[in-house]
Amino acid sequence: MSEGPVLVTGATGQHGGTGAYVVRRLLAEGLPVRALVRRLDERSEQVADLGAELVVGDLTDYRSLTVALDGVSAAYFTFPVDAGIVPAAAHYAQAARDVGGEFRTVVMSMGPATQRHPSHLGRSQWLAEQTLQWAGLDVTILRMAAMFHENLPLLFTRSVRDEGVIRNCFGDNPMSWLNALDAAELCVVALLRPERFADKVAHYLPGPELYDFHQVAKILGDVLERPVGYEPISREAWTESLLGLAASPEAGLLQPNMARHIAACGYAVANSQERGNTDYHDTGLFQRVTGREPVLLHQYLTEQAGNFR
Ligand SMILES: NC(=O)c1ccc[n+]([C@@H]2O[C@H](COP(=O)([O-])OP(=O)(O)OC[C@H]3O[C@@H](n4cnc5c(N)ncnc54)[C@H](OP(=O)(O)O)[C@@H]3O)[C@@H](O)[C@H]2O)c1
Repeated sequence: MSEGPVLVTGATGQHGGTGAYVVRRLLAEGLPVRALVRRLDERSEQVADLGAELVVGDLTDYRSLTVALDGVSAAYFTFPVDAGIVPAAAHYAQAARDVGGEFRTVVMSMGPATQRHPSHLGRSQWLAEQTLQWAGLDVTILRMAAMFHENLPLLFTRSVRDEGVIRNCFGDNPMSWLNALDAAELCVVALLRPERFADKVAHYLPGPELYDFHQVAKILGDVLERPVGYEPISREAWTESLLGLAASPEAGLLQPNMARHIAACGYAVANSQERGNTDYHDTGLFQRVTGREPVLLHQYLTEQAGNFR
């Protein structure tokens, strides 16, 4: 890596919050960090307090991206689970080309990033990845083939608190679980030790645990010391319920695009033809790649218990 700073996008994020973790880890490794923030406020101040240089800009503003990317040694690209990633990738790609950078971009991506996935955001993520590659950038794409733990309080606090139940359309199939900060750690490894991801451009990275939602409800019930049930419902019913939650005062970060995406992911898991895919069953991968123990679901839910009460 050259001497320049590493550009980190999404450092003020609050869903997975991977950007701030990447900032902290790179600074701890002694690397200079530049963070792209959309505005100067309390959250950007926290990023500056960590020791990062701030550039105010936007992934859909070419002018600010040429400033942010000037002289960088590498970059971390992330985008929320929301519409708009294709224009963001196109602006980023053009700016990266125009600053003449030979640097590597590590892209936070998701398992559903395929051209035929039922989720519109999954298909958009795939197209964004393609755009970065057509542009000839040096990209390493990490498709986290797992649900982030952080979705559980976001999606199910109300029904668990009020009714002691999780309802969704994931059905009975198991799926992979990963803490968002562990996903961020995988990206840090890709930035610091690119040789570990040198064999191909796009990597599927499952989490350390596989659970279906019956098991997730049981773990949460154990943590809360009261029964939590699981009721599978249809994709349509869950979409409607999530859109209602997204329109309510308890929406938090949930918005309609995320609601439709997550229901489409549930539908894909419930109807999955890919259960034999060994990528999805490699529960030791995180430990092998990072050399440290992952955060497990029980541990995360224990820390979050207050949110469900
Ligand atoms: N959730 C899951 O279960 C899951 C699973 C697998 C993979 N993933 C991957 O994780 C990624 C999300 O990462 P995350 O959870 O760290 O994100 P996050 O916490 O939602 O943060 C998103 C960040 O992007 C910033 N942002 C939004 N629009 C922008 C724009 N136009 N220009 C510049 N910045 C912009 C936001 O800025 P503000 O702070 O100003 O809003 C925020 O800082 C997704 O793309 C997905 O591929 C998620």
